[in-house]
Amino acid sequence: MAYIVTEACIRCKYMECIEVCPVNCFYEGENMLVIHPSECIDCGACEEQCPAEAIKPDTDPDVSRWAELNRKFSAGDWPNISKRTETLPDSDDFEGQEGKYEKYFSPNPGRGPL
Ligand code: SF4
Ligand code: F3S
Repeated sequence: MAYIVTEACIRCKYMECIEVCPVNCFYEGENMLVIHPSECIDCGACEEQCPAEAIKPDTDPDVSRWAELNRKFSAGDWPNISKRTETLPDSDDFEGQEGKYEKYFSPNPGRGPL
């Protein structure tokens, strides 16, 4: 089992999750983060830190699409990120919106640590 980042992170990307991860298994896209499922040790610490409630266990029945996205992008060219960097200036405007993947998802890598 692992935890995964779901659609609610897109365009919010608050980055509070990475401050508590003991194994630094977050990877950064342009406007969301993902978790590497085989690096996550399933501690659950990040889940309660996320203001957007974007982090879920992969045993949750509604998250298979996001589990695949986490697997794919954590193994590609998105950089590992273990320290919080600049957050997006308008994060709060996107919290709770529906359909964020279709509207805003970017496959581009984030900038990584500043
Ligand atoms: Fe990191 Fe724990 Fe969250 Fe997994 S569950 S991503 S190990 S903080
Ligand atoms: Fe995303 Fe929540 Fe972390 S919005 S960057 S999963 S704190």
